[in-house]
Amino acid sequence: MTSDVGGGSNPPGGERAATGGSLTPLWVLNGPNLSRLGSREPDVYGVLTLADIATSCRTLGAELGFEVDLRQTDSEAELVGWLHAAADGRIPVVLNPAAFTHYSYALRDACAQRTADLIEVHLSNPAAREEFRHTSVIAGVATGTIAGFGAESYLLAIRAIAGRRSDQTAGAPASADPGGHS
Ligand code: DQA
Repeated sequence: MTSDVGGGSNPPGGERAATGGSLTPLWVLNGPNLSRLGSREPDVYGVLTLADIATSCRTLGAELGFEVDLRQTDSEAELVGWLHAAADGRIPVVLNPAAFTHYSYALRDACAQRTADLIEVHLSNPAAREEFRHTSVIAGVATGTIAGFGAESYLLAIRAIAGRRSDQTAGAPASADPGGHS
């Protein structure tokens, strides 16, 4: 299942005409089962739906100069395709890989091709859960990881991307980026 959640109907890399072209695209990509937020294990993942998270991300993103496009899929192939498009478009990504985090080398290899910041996020803190969740095959190729703050994890990631962009605009060296990407 694929979805552009909460009105995210932009073409890849595109901007809405209403923004006058002044906002930078930022994609918030979500893996399997995250369409079920709100009813899925609310004690673990909270009661907000993915549409609620999309609204918060779009609102904060617009304040920080981003046109946020939030998408969700249960398909590994589709997620890989979105990551290729983000790399081709030099589009920063906030990624909740969901269960793919723990075993998808295909997703890791797609993330390794990034040409802009890519922040791995989780609602829960996988390190404090079952042992199989302690491994992330994505973390080593991400700009960084934010986990354990519920929906706030997404907003912290958007703030981190915005902060790094203004650092770079101000001429400071990009930090914590062993991949040499911007
Ligand atoms: C998750 C954590 C993963 O371990 C799990 O498979 C998910 C959600 C999180 O956001 O906490 O689906 O990525």
